[in-house]
Amino acid sequence: MDIKRIYKSKVINVEKVLEKINSHDNIVSALAAAEPKEILSKLHTIAKNVENVNVTTCLPMGSYDYFENPKYKNSFFMDGWFYSPTIRKAHKNGNVSFIPNHLHLSGTKRLFHRKPNVFIGTAAPMDKHGNVSLSLSATYERTMIENADLVIIEINPNMPRTFGDTIIHINDIDYIVEADYKVPELTVVEPTQKDRIIGKNIAKLVEDGSTIQLGIGGIPNAVTRELMDKKDLGIHTEMMTDGMVDLYNAGVITGKKKTLMPGKMVATFALGTNKLYDFIDDNPAVMIMNGNWVNDPYIIGKNKKMVSINTTLQIDLTGQCASESIGHKQFSGTGGQADTAIGAQNSPEGKSIIALYSTAKIRVAGSDERKVISKIVPRLDYGAAVTLSRNDVDYVVTEYGIASLRGTSVKERVKRLISIAHPDFRDNLENEAKELMIW
Ligand code: COA
Repeated sequence: MDIKRIYKSKVINVEKVLEKINSHDNIVSALAAAEPKEILSKLHTIAKNVENVNVTTCLPMGSYDYFENPKYKNSFFMDGWFYSPTIRKAHKNGNVSFIPNHLHLSGTKRLFHRKPNVFIGTAAPMDKHGNVSLSLSATYERTMIENADLVIIEINPNMPRTFGDTIIHINDIDYIVEADYKVPELTVVEPTQKDRIIGKNIAKLVEDGSTIQLGIGGIPNAVTRELMDKKDLGIHTEMMTDGMVDLYNAGVITGKKKTLMPGKMVATFALGTNKLYDFIDDNPAVMIMNGNWVNDPYIIGKNKKMVSINTTLQIDLTGQCASESIGHKQFSGTGGQADTAIGAQNSPEGKSIIALYSTAKIRVAGSDERKVISKIVPRLDYGAAVTLSRNDVDYVVTEYGIASLRGTSVKERVKRLISIAHPDFRDNLENEAKELMIW
């Protein structure tokens, strides 16, 4: 088999590839930094030829006319597994909607409802055996490739070559678009003093030899700085981040004590800066595996001392977390928050941690003013989606301390959560709790 000839026969330009898209097609696009920018940035150019094309995607990084410009509304509709700033902005146009799901079931559940006929994604260049690597994500991409009628891949030499479920053969690709853009990066924000205090509180709960998962958001990322004096940590996470590279380089992550895939850092996607992308490139210590396996709570639980560290937008006094919406307004997604928290509880000596700032500074509707509110509340905002049930939160951490909720009654939870709320709000929380008869 002359794989170079096979490769060449599949290469076409982006304009030609877009001619393959028809009305009523169901397209699934790869996630976050693995999204195919060449194709997505030109998708709107076929708007006059198509109607009702569905694009299902997750955490899109780029700005694309096909969904941002309402004039293309009859041609394209986007369903998102995880909202990003660009989708949040477009939501008001009425051409995007959210798909509720646990991350590990996102691909398989979507197939039940809507089988994709087209998959579009990215990969690092082909090796001498005819394999390409899906690079930064295997969250649902592999499942979709196995089910789509047409598989279109942008091959980009800047994409890191990763191992695990990312490897697919050239024969499984129908068309290749050659691309050469920089891999999208997620800016890493320097931790604030408050982040460091929360990080130190979390570090008290992470024992040497633990395997950790870090969620998306400012706090989980900041935590890594406070884990620098730990020993033999392991990684089994949905998202691989820059902070994990620092921990590895400092000798903190060895994976030696992992009870599932010892020595390997396991993730289902990677999102960060070029530091992370360089680290995972051609690195057999990193395994990017299918999200339906990595995030399966049963699989997660096979790691002894598994610690899940996630964050939330709002938590009520019984421990229910609204992490993906502000009232009715979809902000992000469930992602793997529940997967990983439940997985950590399945694990011998595991812990599920929710860390949050005690307050948020929010815009006052209709003005430029901002006001400080408590993120620990008597009841969640009207319409808020419960991302994590109160049954699945072991520890809640703020800059005021740690509330251990495992095994506690509602009355005890109320008391403990108020003790880590911002002092300015504690009296009011107590009064409200009494009124609700949960105190
Ligand atoms: N009410 C209203 N607004 C609030 C709020 C509340 N209770 N809490 C926070 N906000 C606002 C903030 O002020 C901020 O607004 P701004 O952008 O105007 O400054 C915004 O919401 C984001 O808050 P922030 O704390 O900066 O969020 P983050 O980037 O750290 O992300 C989550 C936090 C919870 C949104 C994110 O972790 C998430 O989506 N989690 C669910 C999925 C998940 O955990 N997956 C885990 C596996 S990866």
